[in-house]
Amino acid sequence: MNRIVLTIWAKRLSGVAAALGLAFVPDLVRAEAPSPFNPASPQAASIANLFWIIVVIAALIFVGVGGAILYATFAYRERPGRAAAQFTGNLPVEIAWTAVPLLLLAVIFYLTVRTMIDLQIPTTDPGSDPVEITVGGHQWWWSFEYPQARFTTANEFHVPVGEPVILHLRSDNVLHSFWIPEMNGKLDLIPGHDRTMWFTPTQTGTFLGQCAEYCGIEHTWMHIRMVVQTPAEYASWVRDQQRPASTPTGLALEGERIFMQQNCQNCHAVAGTAAEGIAGPNLTHMGSRATIGAGVLTNTPDNMERWLRNPQEVKPGNLMPDMKLTPDQVRALTAYMESLR
Ligand code: CUA
Repeated sequence: MNRIVLTIWAKRLSGVAAALGLAFVPDLVRAEAPSPFNPASPQAASIANLFWIIVVIAALIFVGVGGAILYATFAYRERPGRAAAQFTGNLPVEIAWTAVPLLLLAVIFYLTVRTMIDLQIPTTDPGSDPVEITVGGHQWWWSFEYPQARFTTANEFHVPVGEPVILHLRSDNVLHSFWIPEMNGKLDLIPGHDRTMWFTPTQTGTFLGQCAEYCGIEHTWMHIRMVVQTPAEYASWVRDQQRPASTPTGLALEGERIFMQQNCQNCHAVAGTAAEGIAGPNLTHMGSRATIGAGVLTNTPDNMERWLRNPQEVKPGNLMPDMKLTPDQVRALTAYMESLR
């Protein structure tokens, strides 16, 4: 429980740092704390532009109003032999302080609506060859289904640079919110509704995201990892993902036997085997992913053993039960997971 509280506070502090623009400075922070101030798509750039325009307007108002208050406080204060000045009614001033805010709000309203239109998927032609992905929000992980290429992955997905990416966001459980700050704003996943979001990544690299709507105890560990690749690298990743799981040998083969015997396949799918469960993440290429448990651990053999020994200790409340595996079973299953590349 303490670990969760600490994590929540660490997140809040990094959010405050991002809001103060601290994430701007070192690239190092950027990898850890994705920031909407480092836009890497035209959509995120138009949100960041709107933000800075409003910040500048608000700063000018702050300086103007604050300066006027300070000036009036000192210029008209009570002095020896002179009472504090009193004023009532000044029609030109009253008209000015009604008209100026009205005008400023009208400008902000116009810019906001224009940004919202920019963020909508064009109904005519979103660009050359959009990559469409169906994103599922689950408690507490993400599924990414590529209907055109016919494969499904979890928590980590790849897209090509320079192509529009259209996400169809779906939830069959509770509200989640999909947010990769460097790509676009947040969008809620609402059970029973199809929501769509798009962005066109302009830089290659790894972009992190996070579920941004409280969705239960492990909401914090619902990370998103998006890898933007050159079209050639992306095509090769797609070919890898389309391949069924590699045939295990040795200890991994024993792990596969335990996987089936322990009914892991009731929740997990491994393409090319009898495992076709959809309640949990698709594990066909688990060994090639960067993290375990939607970001809670980096994917190393030691961490995989830790996870399998008791997932409830690593990510309390997640829907994978403690299977009470023996150390030998844990080792064999780890070998199997690592072999799924
Ligand atoms: Cu899903 Cu918060």
